[in-house]
Amino acid sequence: MNNLMELLETRRTYRRFEQKEVSREILDEILQAARLSSSGRNAQPLSYIVIRDKEKVDQVFEQTRWAGYLPPEQGQPKEEERPVLFVAVIQNLDINKECDTDAGLAISNMTLAAWNHGVGSCIIGACNKPLLSEMFGLKESQKLHSVVAFGYPSHKSYIQPMEKDGDIRYYLDENRDYVVPKRKLEDMVSYF
Ligand SMILES: Cc1cc2nc3c(=O)[nH]c(=O)nc-3n(C[C@H](O)[C@H](O)[C@H](O)COP(=O)(O)O)c2cc1C
Repeated sequence: MNNLMELLETRRTYRRFEQKEVSREILDEILQAARLSSSGRNAQPLSYIVIRDKEKVDQVFEQTRWAGYLPPEQGQPKEEERPVLFVAVIQNLDINKECDTDAGLAISNMTLAAWNHGVGSCIIGACNKPLLSEMFGLKESQKLHSVVAFGYPSHKSYIQPMEKDGDIRYYLDENRDYVVPKRKLEDMVSYF
């Protein structure tokens, strides 16, 4: 994929994956993409924990909640659909207490770098942060922002233009592909 707009349009959230490993080379590129992201005051308060070992991926997965708009039997990945990799995003509060924007930018870079190689992702905010923080051995000054799941998707996901005041909730179509309503540009932009 070499067209940026195509990459942005097709880089959606994926929630069911093939049980195929993401190579070390692609993982390194995903992490480099995070490293290259912008940072307020260039303080660079973020660090990353990689979870690749199947047993540990399963342990982390147990603490995650997927597709809140769907009943669990539809949205929660089944055993054979789970991601093969997680990257946990950690904020060092001693460096910067207000660095959610940094985290968002780093996550965006990672998901795009992954998708550039056909690796899909799902940002997981709905996870058991106290338990995962303990599992990862985080210190007082470290805050778990989110975990990002990666893997080769086994479904499609596409955008549908949303009517003004329409329903924001994504849903599954007849092929169990995700349909993601997005507001139209004219409903979001004004010129001053
Ligand atoms: C900050 C943030 C937290 C999210 N947390 C979750 C989550 O816990 N579980 C999940 O299944 N999806 C999660 N998502 C994915 C969103 O549901 C998804 O981005 C949204 O439905 C739009 O789909 P799209 O990414 O394909 O545009 C999260 C996304 C963001 C940006």
